[in-house]
Parts: sequence; C-alpha cells; structure tokens
Amino acid sequence: MTKTALITGITGQDGSYLAEQLLDKGYRVVGVVRRSSTTPYERIAHLVDRVELVSADLLDQTSLTDVVQAAAPDEIYNLAAQSFVQTSWNQPVLTGEFTALGVTRMLEALRKGAPKARFYQASSSEQFGKVVETPQRESTPFYPRSPYGVAKVYGHWITVNYRESFDLYAVSGILFNHESPRRGLEFVTRKISDGVARIKLGLQHELRLGNLDARRDWGFAGDYVDAMWRMLQQDEPDDYVIGTGETYSVREFCDLAFGAAGLDYRNHVVQDERFFRPAEVDLLVADPAKSKTQLGWTPKVNFRQLVEMMVEADLARYHRAQ
Ligand code: NAP
Ligand code: GDD
Repeated sequence: MTKTALITGITGQDGSYLAEQLLDKGYRVVGVVRRSSTTPYERIAHLVDRVELVSADLLDQTSLTDVVQAAAPDEIYNLAAQSFVQTSWNQPVLTGEFTALGVTRMLEALRKGAPKARFYQASSSEQFGKVVETPQRESTPFYPRSPYGVAKVYGHWITVNYRESFDLYAVSGILFNHESPRRGLEFVTRKISDGVARIKLGLQHELRLGNLDARRDWGFAGDYVDAMWRMLQQDEPDDYVIGTGETYSVREFCDLAFGAAGLDYRNHVVQDERFFRPAEVDLLVADPAKSKTQLGWTPKVNFRQLVEMMVEADLARYHRAQ
C-alpha cells in the first residue's frame, strides 16, 4: 500500500532532498508551505507536479491540525524552523515560537489528527553547544549557546516527553551540519562556495567572514535525509546522532573551496567583526556509532567531495546566468 509522508519545511534544503527520496520510494508526499505573496519554491521547482502542497504555519495550531488530519500521513517529518543561528539573537522570540513551540503544535496536531503516524523531529548538534564531551553522542548532555540552540533543546525534549506520555512513535534525529548546493546563502559553507564562484568570475574580489577557527562536522544533506527515513522504519522509536565523525575548521573549508577553483583563500578572505557571534560553538564532532550499528547508516559523500560539489555547482550557476 502507498505510504503518505507529510513534510513541514519542504521548501528548505532538507525538505527538498527528503521529498525527492520519498517520491523515489513510491510515497505520496504532502508538503506544508506557508502563505507568501510570492511562490519562491526554488528548491522544489522540479517536484511541484509530483507533491501535494498544503498551506499551514508553525505559529497557527488550527492550520497544522487541519493539514495533518486531511493528509492522513503514515509519517510526519517536522523540518520547518527558523534555522539560522545568527538570526536567533536578533529574533529570539520568533525563533522560540517557530523552533520550540512549533514542535509542540505539530505534536498536538499529530495527537488530534493522526495519532498512529510516526513523527520525526529535526534536532541539532547545536544542542551540544559548549560541548561537555568529545565526540558528541546521544548521551552527551546539552549546553546550547544560542537562542536557536535553546529552542532546539526544547523541541528535542518535548518530542521525548510526548513519546513517553502518549506512547507515540516520535523520534529526534540529532543531526550535525549538513550542506549541499541547495544550502541557504547565509550559511558559511554556501557563502564560501558562492563567494569563490563570484571571485573566480571577477564579480567580487574579497569575501568577508567571521570566526575562521570554528570547527564543524560537515556532511552532505542528501545522505542525512536518508538517515531521517531510516529512523522511522525501526521497530522501536529512539533518538540518534547523525554525523561523519570528522571535524574541519572554517579555514580548512576555505582552503579547499578556493583551491578547487585554482585560488588561494589568503588573497581574498577578510575577517569582519559583523560575522562573529555573541557566543560561539567552537567544536562539533559526532560519534555516529549508534546510527551505524542500528540504522545501518553511513555517509557516502566525504568532506572534499562535498566542498568540490558545492563550488562546482555555484560556478555552473553563474556560468549559466552569464
Ligand atoms: P532551511 O533550509 O532553513 O528550511 C527551513 C524550512 O522551514 C523552510 O521550508 C521554511 O519555509 C520553513 N519554515 C520556517 N518557518 C516556518 C513557519 N513558521 N511555518 C512553516 N514553515 C516554516 O533548513 P534546513 O537546513 O533544510 O534544515 C531543516 C531542519 O533541520 C530545520 O529544523 C533545522 O533547524 C534542522 N537542522 C538543520 C541542520 C543542517 O545542518 N542543515 C542540522 C541540524 C538540524 P520558507 O521556505 O517559507 O522559509
Ligand atoms: N553563517 C556564517 N557566516 N558563519 C560563519 C561566518 C560567516 O560569515 N564566518 C564564520 N562562521 C562560522 C560561525 O561562527 C559558525 O561557527 C560556523 O561558521 C558555522 O556557521 P553556519 O554555517 O551559520 O552554521 P551553524 O553551525 O551555526 O548552524 C547550522 O548547523 C546546525 C547544526 O549544528 C544550521 O544549519 C543550524 O540550523 C543547524 O542546527
């Protein structure tokens, strides 16, 4: 029988890859979009004829309950959020409404509209923040360092709480940073790959960045949405860390990305106070042992391949536009 998946955040990076993979598996895919005066479905333009788009907002309980009830999903992937850490200091209340309370609203929608549906919550390695253990695993205590991280900790625990209180199949995937050519331009990896392409084509000369010493465990988004799906196919609901187990600095990302275009980052990157954060997450690196053993999940794209994929895609995009 055809399974139905409901995805919040289908217009985002992860939502677009997840929708593709679920369609390939034969799912009926229902995507939640929020009302806008334009229809900027850039990442899912190639999918709009194959998915059903329904309108709801994380701030609005009635709309969420209605779309969950109408879709009658077997699986719900709650990917929608205010996902940019830097913005969470400028819009802390909105971030809490979307990224924290939005999860409770989705869980309430599930309880009322589709209590048998399996629920995936997009938790984050930002929850580990000022890390108390390295590498970080499922049992590592949280110490968030931004309003975004705090909101995600709430979303994580409310998912655990609803699982335990109401016997729901509800899981949190604690995903480390994952990137792609579809990454938003404000995130550091895409800002760099886009900057490299613009510099290569003579459209700009310098790239202004913040902290080059921050270290992240970066993987490819296409691999990570497969892990989300695997989490909902287990006999019992559980939470998993998803990452590569390798960590690199922003500086190392720059070195590889500029190098991929035959450039030296030291001639172009300028550090700018505007892009430093009030509180930084210095180091993230996953211990993905549990997801490997229990989900059979391993990343297919390595760090170098990811960087090269992103630079090539941005170069190709600017070439097409010329
Ligand atoms: P993204 O590209 O920023 O996408 C966010 C999505 O949420 C967009 O579709 C956005 O819709 C939607 N959205 C935002 N506010 C909404 C609202 N009030 N109502 C309905 N939809 C709303 O994020 P992503 O990188 O795909 O990440 C997906 C999820 O994983 C997020 O929850 C993020 O916090 C989490 N996460 C991401 C990473 C990562 O490295 N990418 C790691 C760990 C966790 P619009 O298109 O209308 O803006
Ligand atoms: N965005 C940005 N812009 N970051 C910069 C810059 C810059 O110019 N210069 C240095 N950085 C550093 C940041 O200070 C941070 O330490 C690191 O690059 C990564 O920043 P982002 O790419 O913005 O991602 P993030 O790690 O804060 O958050 C992402 O990953 C989380 C998972 O750990 C987002 O996708 C979150 O939604 C996700 O939960």
